Amino acid sequence: MNLKFYVTTPIYYPSGKFHIGTAYTTVLADSIKRYHTLKGEDTYLLTGNDEHGQKIEQKAKEANQTPKEYVEKMANMAKELWAKMEIEYDDFIQTTQERHEKIVQKIFDRFMEQKDIYKGEYEGWYCVPCETYFTQTQLKEGKCPDCGREVKIMKEEAYFFNMKKYTNQLLKYYEEHPDFIKPEYRKNEMINNFIKPGLEDLCVTRTSFDWGIKVIKDPKHVIYVWLDALTNYITALGYESKDDTLFQKYWPADLQIVGKDIARFHLIYWPIFLMALGIPLPKTILVHNWIMMKDGKMSKSKGNVIYPETLIERYGLDAVRYFLLREMPTSQDGIFSPESFVERYNFDLCNDLSNLLNRTISMVNKYFEGNIPKYNGQPNKVDKELEEYTLEQIEKFDEKWNHYEIATSIQEIWNLIARTNKYIDETMPWELAKQEQTEKLQSCMYHLAENLRKIAILIRPFMKDTANNIFRQIGIQENDMKNWKNLKQYDKIETSKVIKKGEPIFMRLNVAEEVEFLKNIMKK
Ligand code: MSP
Repeated sequence: MNLKFYVTTPIYYPSGKFHIGTAYTTVLADSIKRYHTLKGEDTYLLTGNDEHGQKIEQKAKEANQTPKEYVEKMANMAKELWAKMEIEYDDFIQTTQERHEKIVQKIFDRFMEQKDIYKGEYEGWYCVPCETYFTQTQLKEGKCPDCGREVKIMKEEAYFFNMKKYTNQLLKYYEEHPDFIKPEYRKNEMINNFIKPGLEDLCVTRTSFDWGIKVIKDPKHVIYVWLDALTNYITALGYESKDDTLFQKYWPADLQIVGKDIARFHLIYWPIFLMALGIPLPKTILVHNWIMMKDGKMSKSKGNVIYPETLIERYGLDAVRYFLLREMPTSQDGIFSPESFVERYNFDLCNDLSNLLNRTISMVNKYFEGNIPKYNGQPNKVDKELEEYTLEQIEKFDEKWNHYEIATSIQEIWNLIARTNKYIDETMPWELAKQEQTEKLQSCMYHLAENLRKIAILIRPFMKDTANNIFRQIGIQENDMKNWKNLKQYDKIETSKVIKKGEPIFMRLNVAEEVEFLKNIMKK
């Protein structure tokens, strides 16, 4: 078992309200952090905002504010959203904070001294929104390969980082550390698309705008946003500062999560910067796909944007977190559509999970006055089958979370929910009651309650309130019974009393009404 677990999200460009796609990375990171906390590890989650660059300068101007005023306002907005989404972050870094800027300057100087950075002139195709130069061959139909927008030729005196010097070291590292990049196909993409054709040196400064960290010895240059942005993961921990306790404790990161659009920066430039600094690389960088709409990317102009706040207000936080995590396959983009959201809500949350809880509570009340019977230690055949299946699912769940295959692991939990529902049909408790087969009926109620307890523990990392609601309804109070420690046991649980009348945790939605509601919201 790990003793500590350090996980990071990318730092966000505060250029507008975050939609559900942008929120995905953070929900994922938070859920993985909570899974490790549940297992008793000392966890640390870093998130924050990426506040420099031309785009931010422009946005501030449009808002009639100084860039600093603008980024402060946006940081508060982000923090409000993360509070609504119950993101348990330990630190929120802003790249305009002194703790960050000072160290970035120090790192730049060090790279200069090491001759990793040299002065030259840059000319290339530049995408303003992405703040990235591209070579002719990297363009897609003459446009930005990342965002598809127009690019323009730009030329300026600039400093460059000598990436070529580290290419072989990077390739060797990829080869020797199979867990470094997940999923694995992203590694091949990097090698085939960027490394094999010859890695370009990276331009790391600009003179065309002001809003950035100045190069101390040549202040007409500001440090190009990726060298500034990427280093946040270590400056936040106090790297090279007076107090680097957190850095000593948590670095190297166990997991860094990024969306596919910024994979190149994290899988090539970031490890090379770290190699040049002589510090260890993160253990794993996880690249996820995007949440898309049926008609492609979310964008205001298409009128297909959906914001997390809207969904949370109407359907509750847990339904939103469930949908986001469940709908993201490893190998392709996840799709949000009003129909699929409402369908998942009705089928998975209401029919499967909520009904299992409800049926169990009402039967325990009906047959045993609300008292969950004691385990007799002698499961019959059907009970035994359920126990074995449940333990297998727990193993699968654990393995998948350790490999960050979250969508499929959630599928395994819902398989367990379906299997537990099926157990009711197999045992037919109403018949057992009629035939007065009390012992079998006791065992059945015990197994149902016990599986609900296990299911609640498994969903805790991503659906905290629902898990607590289940614990409360089946009368589990002791913290130890809500934790990983006692997850696998069937026989050590003290019995408890369920609530008198079950409360549905998810109520069936009217499909037509809700689809209409969501479509209207998207248009607005
Ligand atoms: N500022 C840079 C990251 C610097 S990290 C040192 C950045 N910011 S961003 O705000 O544009 O994006 C933040 C994260 O949101 C990225 O991981 C990006 O992939 C993710 N997403 C943006 N739109 C998304 C979806 N539609 N779906 C899933 N993730 C998406 O890039």
